[in-house]
Amino acid sequence: MTITVANTEKEFYNLAAWRIAEEISNKPDALFGFSTGRTTGGIHAALVEIYNRYPFDTSRLTVFGLDEITNVSRDYFGSCYYMLLNELVKPLGIPVENYIMPPTHSNNFLRECRDYENALSARGPVALQILGIGENGHIGFNQPGSSFGSTAWVSKMDPELDSRIRRETGSPPDADLGGLTLGIKNIMQSKKILLVANGERKAQIIRDALLGPVTEKVPASVLQLHPDCEVILDTEAAGKMRDEEFGRRN
Ligand code: F6R
Repeated sequence: MTITVANTEKEFYNLAAWRIAEEISNKPDALFGFSTGRTTGGIHAALVEIYNRYPFDTSRLTVFGLDEITNVSRDYFGSCYYMLLNELVKPLGIPVENYIMPPTHSNNFLRECRDYENALSARGPVALQILGIGENGHIGFNQPGSSFGSTAWVSKMDPELDSRIRRETGSPPDADLGGLTLGIKNIMQSKKILLVANGERKAQIIRDALLGPVTEKVPASVLQLHPDCEVILDTEAAGKMRDEEFGRRN
């Protein structure tokens, strides 16, 4: 695992975006996995800026999202489909047929999970999976306690996010909002992983995930076992680790 610490927020977004641009340029016909959220949103914006200044070939690239909310419209601005479409697929000119996402509506999400894995395997392996991390160590929608052996599944939405989505979408109380996510086993099968985190609120979990015991209580700690995982942090997210503990690079 290599850990790089950026000195400023802008440098953090740019560093991560350049790493992704570099990987895409080296493997322009490969499969790349993206995540949504505040952290990766800033990185996507920086990646689009790089692309606009120094265009790279995206015509053969296939991209997918790590997870999706169930039982909301794809047009909802908080759906992963909508975010990645507008943050990446459209601005990078990625052919829409090369954008793979699970559906948000289905009468059989178990089947959708298997279909999603099969659709990815048909284009795989995953050359690069970009991951954010939750303050409780979740990756994708794999919350603490998720099995390291998990494959794609629908996890229970955490109550805070659940109520935000209901507020924003006006979903009825009986709408079953869940988190369809690739499992930890799927994530670990990616050839390369880029974990990104910024801000003070991530400092403790970054320490726990990168330097603590590998445990299902901290899903991201599994990344310590991945043979090619790169971590990019800002100084705040790295704030609870001493340089000598992780061989600081910047
Ligand atoms: C979303 C996803 C999540 C986020 C995580 C961090 O696709 O995979 O695990 O990466 O919740 O989100 P932010 O960056 O908003 O703190």
